[in-house]
Amino acid sequence: MKGIVLAGGAGARLYPITHAVSKQLLPVGGKPMIYYPLSILMLADVRDVLVITTPHDLPRFRTLLGDGSRLGMNISYAEQPRPAGIAEALLIGAGHVGTDTVALILGDNIFHGPRFSDVLARESQDVKGCVLFGYPVHDPQRYGVGEADGDGRLVSIEEKPARPRSNRAITGLYFYDDRAVDIAKDITPSARGELEITDVNRFYVEQGEARLVDLGRGFAWLDTGTPESLLQASQYVGTLEERQGCRIACIEEIALRMGFIDAEACHRLGEEAGGSSYGQYVMSIAKEMKV
Ligand code: DAU
Repeated sequence: MKGIVLAGGAGARLYPITHAVSKQLLPVGGKPMIYYPLSILMLADVRDVLVITTPHDLPRFRTLLGDGSRLGMNISYAEQPRPAGIAEALLIGAGHVGTDTVALILGDNIFHGPRFSDVLARESQDVKGCVLFGYPVHDPQRYGVGEADGDGRLVSIEEKPARPRSNRAITGLYFYDDRAVDIAKDITPSARGELEITDVNRFYVEQGEARLVDLGRGFAWLDTGTPESLLQASQYVGTLEERQGCRIACIEEIALRMGFIDAEACHRLGEEAGGSSYGQYVMSIAKEMKV
């Protein structure tokens, strides 16, 4: 399975913070926001990732993540000149995806919950049709909204409906079979001039091939769109990390646990982290995993 992180857009609701810095590079719980979606792809055992961002921000993402080899991954980059829709990521990433299945994730989506790694490992296997992840919200009209039958098969999907048919928001993590790029090629821009991912998803829904995995209560799908929600996301991560003594979305730790790198390589990454508490943590995990 190939991975795409879509990390473009202007982050307008976060101005002036995003005037000079990409939203997806802003700190959340002591690490760049993109670490969170990247972690999700890694936990789905995806090692080949395309980061799509604006021409202005691309060099900074490259500085942060490089070619991915330090993490035992292959990370490449592509430009999206303007935010012409989430589904455009599948067109920009067509060459990267080839004939493989693909996991697309939005660079500002933060997921955290019990045994989510197991869910990701299971759902990323042999994807047929598409797998979407639903989350109960009190304001579904702000999102893509899905309605599923008793077997978890989606029967309808709408983008920001005025009268939502359910309270299930469709989150920004999408697993597709090898048809997604061709489907995206056939959709037309919406009224807001964007290639909507919901239109790609609707194709699968109409074929009866879209499954909804319910993330349910007790799971955290965090918003980072406003200064307030960004702060709340940081506080959520900080509270858990402090209480449990483990880090969320530590990409070096995940690379080690997934077998992308060995304990020596992980330890070196910790050493390179400039004496920070983050680096100390990475080294401690590497030591623990060596025994
Ligand atoms: O977060 C989940 C929601 O994301 C879904 O429920 C919706 O179905 C989906 O359309 C999308 O809705 P948003 O209103 O949140 O989309 P927004 O335009 O804010 O874009 C989400 C992120 O993706 C944002 O960080 C910017 C980035 N983006 C967006 C577009 C349209 C890009 O990088 N390029 C784009 O062309």
